Amino acid sequence: MTAFKRVLFAFTIILSGFSVWAQYEPGENFDKDWLFYNDENPNGQQPELDDSKWRQVNLPHDWAIEGPFSSEYNARYGGLPIHGTGWYRKHFTMPATAKGKVVRLEFEGAMYNAHVWVNGNLVGNRPYGYIGFEFDISEYLKYDGSDNVVAVRLTPQDLSSRWYPGAGIYRSVWLKIDNPVYVDQWGTYITTPTATPEKATVQIETNVVNKSADNQQITVTHEYLDPSGTKVGSAKEDLEIPAGQTGTSALYTIIESPKLWDLDAPHLYTAVTTLTVDGQVTDTYRSTFGIRSIRYTRDAFYLNEKQVRFNGVCLHHDNGALGAAVYRRADERKLQIMKEMGVNAIRTSHNPPSRTFLELCDELGLLVQDEAFDVWKMEKVPNGYNLFFEEWGELDLKDMIVRDRNHPSIVMWSIGNEIIEQRDKKNGWTVAKKLHDVCRATDPTRPTSVGLNYYPAPYDNNMAQQVDVVGMNYKPSRYSEVRSNYPGLPIYGSETSSCTSSRGVYHLPIEKYKTHPSLQVTSYDLIGPGWAYPPDIEFHFQEKNPYVMGEFIWTGFDYLGEPTPYGGRDNSTNGYWNDDWPARSSYFGAVDLCGFPKDRFYLYQSQWTEKPMIHLLPHWNWAGMEGENIPVYAYTNCDEAELFLNGKSLGRKVKGVDKTTILIDFFRYEPKTFESPYRLSWEVPYEAGELKVVGYKDGRQVSEKVIRTAGKPAKVRLSVDRNRIAADGRDLAYVTVRIEDKDGNLCPNADNLVTFDVRGAGKLIAVDNGNAATLESFQDTKRKAFSGMALAILNSGEKAGTITLTAKSKGLKGAKIQVQTE
Ligand code: GAL
Repeated sequence: MTAFKRVLFAFTIILSGFSVWAQYEPGENFDKDWLFYNDENPNGQQPELDDSKWRQVNLPHDWAIEGPFSSEYNARYGGLPIHGTGWYRKHFTMPATAKGKVVRLEFEGAMYNAHVWVNGNLVGNRPYGYIGFEFDISEYLKYDGSDNVVAVRLTPQDLSSRWYPGAGIYRSVWLKIDNPVYVDQWGTYITTPTATPEKATVQIETNVVNKSADNQQITVTHEYLDPSGTKVGSAKEDLEIPAGQTGTSALYTIIESPKLWDLDAPHLYTAVTTLTVDGQVTDTYRSTFGIRSIRYTRDAFYLNEKQVRFNGVCLHHDNGALGAAVYRRADERKLQIMKEMGVNAIRTSHNPPSRTFLELCDELGLLVQDEAFDVWKMEKVPNGYNLFFEEWGELDLKDMIVRDRNHPSIVMWSIGNEIIEQRDKKNGWTVAKKLHDVCRATDPTRPTSVGLNYYPAPYDNNMAQQVDVVGMNYKPSRYSEVRSNYPGLPIYGSETSSCTSSRGVYHLPIEKYKTHPSLQVTSYDLIGPGWAYPPDIEFHFQEKNPYVMGEFIWTGFDYLGEPTPYGGRDNSTNGYWNDDWPARSSYFGAVDLCGFPKDRFYLYQSQWTEKPMIHLLPHWNWAGMEGENIPVYAYTNCDEAELFLNGKSLGRKVKGVDKTTILIDFFRYEPKTFESPYRLSWEVPYEAGELKVVGYKDGRQVSEKVIRTAGKPAKVRLSVDRNRIAADGRDLAYVTVRIEDKDGNLCPNADNLVTFDVRGAGKLIAVDNGNAATLESFQDTKRKAFSGMALAILNSGEKAGTITLTAKSKGLKGAKIQVQTE
């Protein structure tokens, strides 16, 4: 019998208002009770080392997020200590029953260059921090009840990335104890060559490992469970596998009237695979999959034979104040916020994401472009992955695909982003071809892609032609040229806009600047670096060229590091981005680092959603500017909008007809202004009071947004995303903090310091306010508000109970909120 049950997330338990997925587990969770030492230690792997003074940590763990921020570190990585040596050790005993079994240790990801020892024996090394790996450690273990110790050494380097990668064993670890006949790691490959509402063909290939000393006669059985857990099909085959070898079983099953995986109904099926030898079950393995079809033409992408345009975002993997450590709820919330913006697709820029992230995309109904690399052999930063590419590149890519290919959400493999080889006549296309071939050999059901930011070099040198679907970064004005020069290439915007802004910050009069002394960027959604342009420009070119399959904006969320337009350029600063210290995290997000929408969120929502919405900017606190014109923008998906100041109409505007002149300074783009049909605007002589906008569809009022001039800060207001969370030690509750006047209006410029006190069944795990240029620690019990808001993240303990958060701020009425853990 398999020693550990593998549980699957095919069912949801609804617990009064929140849902807990029983998640897929590859083995016994091995995340708890590790010891951590953040420095070189020549004896770190020695079993007898006295580690009693090492710090106790649970995984997933990111040491860099603990800070402190320092100008000694690189603002490109968030001004945080992402480099150095980190040792992790864990002591454990093995049951005597495990002797003779196959014991594997699986790491979902460790940042960076992991070396793993068991009882002093080096069992393996894996450089790439974004890929999962496992080692068979059976022969190094003691099964007599005495102490075993696993030691992991990580050596992330300075100048090794272009953003914050995190540092540590930042994804989960699993201990897997199996009989010698078992399903390999990531051992099933499920495809649905037919997937219609009437019928599905489910094809499954299973890699079965025989580590026993004998040849084995193995029966492989699959049972298919529909989303409700009902058995809907099965398949079976006998396989003979010689001793020490791996064999593959290939079977198909017809499922009648399947529930297709779709964006608005992401139905998931389960395959339960059982291996039997001589009537004894040797392994049970569960795989989740979806039944869906994808198809690309030169002009469009189809999901289940319906055309879908990519309303996509690029996302880095960090979760702001929590760093790179995986928290399921943090990713879930991130993706939910993205869906609310109208997003239907994610580009996992520029690396393999966590398993959890992909599971969530499956569950939430999001399309994914799974991206392998930001660099191949030619360097972007001196200590980057290019140092490992030659030796590990193909394996890392293959492993990403083998790990991920059952996820119905994934619709494309990307072999790279803005690879320097684009300009290399020899290596550009040959490496691209090799990587494309790896993808094809590992999963022929999805196209390959690459994100190209050069034009025309990679088209002229035969590199673009190596992939199935070509991603263009920041080249909307070239779409038509590529189409006419290379009519056979399907194209989409793999990275677009790169507009920057700071939530709630408006600089008047509107101007186009490169940087601002405040180290913030105005939220009129106009400013970006030289290659960037406002979202409107991409909308325009996508509309003009409907064969472009959509776009992935840079970025959905702000992320740690790369504080463009601040910080410096690699060429002039040797890769250190500290010129505009303390600017230390990105301004690119449509949503800030806290998960609070910026104005741009609504500009995309107006373009990507249909439920009537209207948004108004800026805030309405401009004391001292009475009578002066303030530019007021409305973002709406309605036909018309009417603005009122203190009850007086300032006129109706028609979307698409009444245009807004916006400034652009996008390289090689003339003229320097654009008449945007995507924004409605008014010049409003300032007068304190109430600014209201009303949206009309077919002449009927369907939406409205009101902004009032706020008085003095009077109180703290707290609200929480979920007031019941799981008592599992990893669940999170996100508490939004607002500084309000006595009437409940947000004070848009408030920066009051708020102090938190947390009692009961959980702890305060992080605080933030979305300010990209502050050095306040994420791990504190206080935070200043930024543009009137802050965030406190609560983390459940393992005992059910109540978490009580109290927030105080000098001179203001405090607030209290409670969260139940169950
Ligand atoms: C792109 C790059 C991204 C990010 C972005 C910022 O060129 O692919 O990783 O750096 O620029 O605008």
